[in-house]
Amino acid sequence: MSKPPSATEFQPYRGKDVTARDGVRTLWGRLSGRPLKPKMARMMTDVLPDLACVPDADGRVDLAALFGKEPERLWLEVGIGAGEHLAWQGTENPDVRLIGAEFFLNGVASAVRHLHDQNLSNVRILHGDGRVLVEGVPEASVERAFILHPDPWPKKRHWERRIIQPSMMDALARAIRPGGELRLATDHADYQPWMARIALAHPKFRWTAQCADDWRRRAQDWPQTRYEAKAVREGRRPLYLSLERVSD
Ligand SMILES: C[S@@+](CC[C@H](N)C(=O)[O-])C[C@H]1O[C@@H](n2cnc3c(N)ncnc32)[C@H](O)[C@@H]1O
Repeated sequence: MSKPPSATEFQPYRGKDVTARDGVRTLWGRLSGRPLKPKMARMMTDVLPDLACVPDADGRVDLAALFGKEPERLWLEVGIGAGEHLAWQGTENPDVRLIGAEFFLNGVASAVRHLHDQNLSNVRILHGDGRVLVEGVPEASVERAFILHPDPWPKKRHWERRIIQPSMMDALARAIRPGGELRLATDHADYQPWMARIALAHPKFRWTAQCADDWRRRAQDWPQTRYEAKAVREGRRPLYLSLERVSD
């Protein structure tokens, strides 16, 4: 593993993400918002370095180095926002090791604060592109992955920026072990058919629906995220998909 970002490198990817496999890829979205308050800045300088997942120069994530030993149960979350869902899952599942990825600085600082305040030792954060995380973990190492309420990019000319793409499903199929689970959600009306079409078409995933309106039901162990709460308040009904990674 390479060194975690130093205090002066809050935005290690600076809008571009370099991976060995794909060359340079653009990150679509804001990298930071308001200047961090002192407490949040301290989260980045003093706390994050001990929690940071930093892939090596080839994009590989060394899980044994990150967690002290190879985790038996590993969960990933891409686009954690302020990290409430990640922290909840970390608290509820102390025997699971989790890595959350987020490139928005203010979100990362909030997530680090949640982990710090809750004294969680089983969760790590990648400050950067979640696609790198999914591609960088060893094949079939992941038991469960979450992508919840990804940025919808509603304009047609921006659809290529959506994170749910056939190539992302391929990367998730490589990372998730057979029998593992992928949880997806979106509250955005146009993204729902997009997400469902791409996810359900992938030959390595099977929708585990029990009934016709399964996609309207959030599982018990799936807390509402901040974005979802806002969407529901505004009258939007989320889509929830739980997919099983089938055997090769
Ligand atoms: C609409 S927010 C939802 C956040 C959270 N999942 C929730 O439901 O509250 C989407 C988040 O995904 C992050 N994001 C988008 N693309 C990403 C990527 N490639 N890697 C990491 N984070 C990403 C954005 O910065 C943003 O914080």
